[in-house]
Amino acid sequence: MTISRNSHLMDGIALSKHLRHDIARRAAALTAHDITPGLAVILVGDNPASQVYVRNKVKACADTGLHSVLEKYPDSMGEAELLARIEALNHDASIHGILVQLPLPAHIDAHKVLEAISPAKDVDGFHVANAGALMVGQPGFWPCTPYGCMKLLESINYELKGKHAVVIGRSNIVGKPVALMLLQKNATVTVCHSATANLKAMTLQADVVVVAVGKRNVLTADMVKPGAVVIDVGMNRNLEGKLCGDVDFTGVREVAGFITPVPGGVGPMTITMLLVNTLEAAERLAHAKAAS
Ligand code: GUN
Repeated sequence: MTISRNSHLMDGIALSKHLRHDIARRAAALTAHDITPGLAVILVGDNPASQVYVRNKVKACADTGLHSVLEKYPDSMGEAELLARIEALNHDASIHGILVQLPLPAHIDAHKVLEAISPAKDVDGFHVANAGALMVGQPGFWPCTPYGCMKLLESINYELKGKHAVVIGRSNIVGKPVALMLLQKNATVTVCHSATANLKAMTLQADVVVVAVGKRNVLTADMVKPGAVVIDVGMNRNLEGKLCGDVDFTGVREVAGFITPVPGGVGPMTITMLLVNTLEAAERLAHAKAAS
């Protein structure tokens, strides 16, 4: 008989609730000094998933006392017009964070658009100035999803120093930045990807596995060291149309020490860290004003 040993869940909903309480308190303190943190969200086109994401971002702002504006544009919007809107928001004193929802329509150069956002208002952390700041360990804005992964690890008081962290996925939005964040916390980091020769040999050595591929069942129970911490960044639909991550949750939870569920793990943390970044953008401005 095998004894089932379920791992501990890392609950992103509960952690978000806790963090958002503090965000609301800090936002109210700034508002009392006539600075209400403000986020501008730009959506171009009618991608259904993007519509849900931006609605959730705007709602999260309202729930925590942040000001937000949602600018929706048709798919036909030209690149120059979008760049002009960003330039105007860069100079808008009521806006501390600017987020351009991705993906953008194919006729718009996303890289050019992201580089047009002032790094001081780049609360998504996608500008090369912020990516560079993360690489050299300087203050800047960390991208929200990997930042949320780090907060989840912090919430279980996980000591990364000397541990082996394996990241699966090398995207600019999650894989690469989370690898740098783990490295900054003194983990030994291995980044695996679609061309990795023997993924299982890597993951079996891992104390922490972060999976950010965008494909179901990338990590199965036989690939996990007993007691390891597993963070699932994936957001997929299974054959029944139910939301699921990149990890075979049912199998892996029997082996792992800690695991994030999907939904309810990393997902809610992404928006929470967007609120944190927007709040920090406003706080930095308030401190700069107070010092001048
Ligand atoms: N599309 C999917 N995820 C994200 C995100 O974190 N930020 C932006 N701007 N667009 C996205």
